[in-house]
Amino acid sequence: APARIAVTGLAVMGSNLARNLARHGFRVAVHNRTSARTEALIAEHGHEGDFAPAETLEELVASLRTPRQIIIMVKAGAPTDAVIDELAPLLEPGDMVIDGGNAHYADTRRREAALKEAGLHFVGAGISGGEEGALNGPSIMPGGSEESYRHLGPVLESIAAQVDGVPCCVHVGPDGAGHFVKMVHNGIEYADMQLIAEAYDLLRRVGGLAPAEIAEVFRGWNTGDLESYLVEITAEVLGHVDAGSGAALVDVIADEAEQKGTGRWTVQEALELGVPVTGIAEAVFARSLSGRVGQREAVRRAFGAGEPAVSDQDVEQLVDDVRQALYASKVVAYAQGFDQMRAAGAEYGWDLDLGAMATIWRGGCIIRARFLDRIREAYDKEPALASLLVDDYFRDAVANAEAAWRRVVVKAVSAGVPAPGFVSALAYYDGLRSERLPASLVQGLRDFFGAHTYRRTDREGSFHTLWSGDRSQVGA
Ligand code: 6PG
Repeated sequence: APARIAVTGLAVMGSNLARNLARHGFRVAVHNRTSARTEALIAEHGHEGDFAPAETLEELVASLRTPRQIIIMVKAGAPTDAVIDELAPLLEPGDMVIDGGNAHYADTRRREAALKEAGLHFVGAGISGGEEGALNGPSIMPGGSEESYRHLGPVLESIAAQVDGVPCCVHVGPDGAGHFVKMVHNGIEYADMQLIAEAYDLLRRVGGLAPAEIAEVFRGWNTGDLESYLVEITAEVLGHVDAGSGAALVDVIADEAEQKGTGRWTVQEALELGVPVTGIAEAVFARSLSGRVGQREAVRRAFGAGEPAVSDQDVEQLVDDVRQALYASKVVAYAQGFDQMRAAGAEYGWDLDLGAMATIWRGGCIIRARFLDRIREAYDKEPALASLLVDDYFRDAVANAEAAWRRVVVKAVSAGVPAPGFVSALAYYDGLRSERLPASLVQGLRDFFGAHTYRRTDREGSFHTLWSGDRSQVGA
């Protein structure tokens, strides 16, 4: 029988996705550039379902029912283009090429437009959840045409994670919308991880707690509002002892955070769109800073690392304050990410349903968390929400956390423990709620040195002050 769907690129993500499809009863054609991987997949997991191994892309294409659906799971960038270039001439109008990698959404838009000319559907699908998710149910964010989703939707929804019987997969929007949303997901993932790392650092350096104790704190937090996959695995990582040295693993791992680029893309795009995603930006920069080893050493030598910060305060209070600061900062990070999706939707003509994004992030993905249910509810109630911060639930949550949040920021700053995520989240909140911002002074300065003009609070129009003349005001 012809296969229902195909996967090419059988590294871990690709083979796990193929296995997931097979386990759900779909006959899956599988292919890899070097067939050893295909053979290994069949040898180890062939019994899990109905696989149709193919040695060449021609063979893969021939084994599929039409319209064909082929998922590409290779490295983003040139390798993806190479597969598309080889594949496209073998296909017929109506066939669908799905890119399940972490592609840049602009590449996806370009590829979608190019394949459309040949009558092919190109679907950039964000897939989150790592290896485990790909196998047991990821969160899937497909873009592309509505027609393609009519064919693909049922398959993707059945292999996606399910929360309360709802699949973590929805048609995000046309062309690059899916990969854009996946990019923002990763940006939020960066912010979330940075905040978690800062919370740990404060508990350790200000609270004097040991990694194993902090693991317990996170385990406790995971039973409340902060319940999430990242908080859960933080407890695992912090609780893990390195077999060789007997030390906490976190003390043996080099403190230089790496990145493959999706967080950076999120910030680059936010800069283009003019959306302040300060939490994500701080997270990206904190990773960069950690990697500047030579500079770190030079500055440490020049100034000293500072005294150990541990103080004799009430640790229980600190733990609870940090919990609240983490929650409030996390709300800010999500508010910023959702803002960016809204702005991109307007810019690219995608009709993004933000509540649906929260819905498909409830399970399967790396940022899955209890509070995504709250975000879904917030957008269900008010799809045009000005900011997540003003939804009743989040407004109360942030207002209740505010005092603790400020205490934590003050402590971090006075102890010399860097907490760029907490600090910038609080500054964002204070910025948005201020009655008057010093932006008026910035405008005055711009007008002074460059006659860039300003608007007034009391009258329509643009004005300029004759700074080097008699300093009277003229309309611009
Ligand atoms: C996911 C993840 C995944 C990505 C990592 C790596 O949603 O499953 O986001 O796509 O592999 O998060 O990102 P960095 O290497 O840039 O940290």
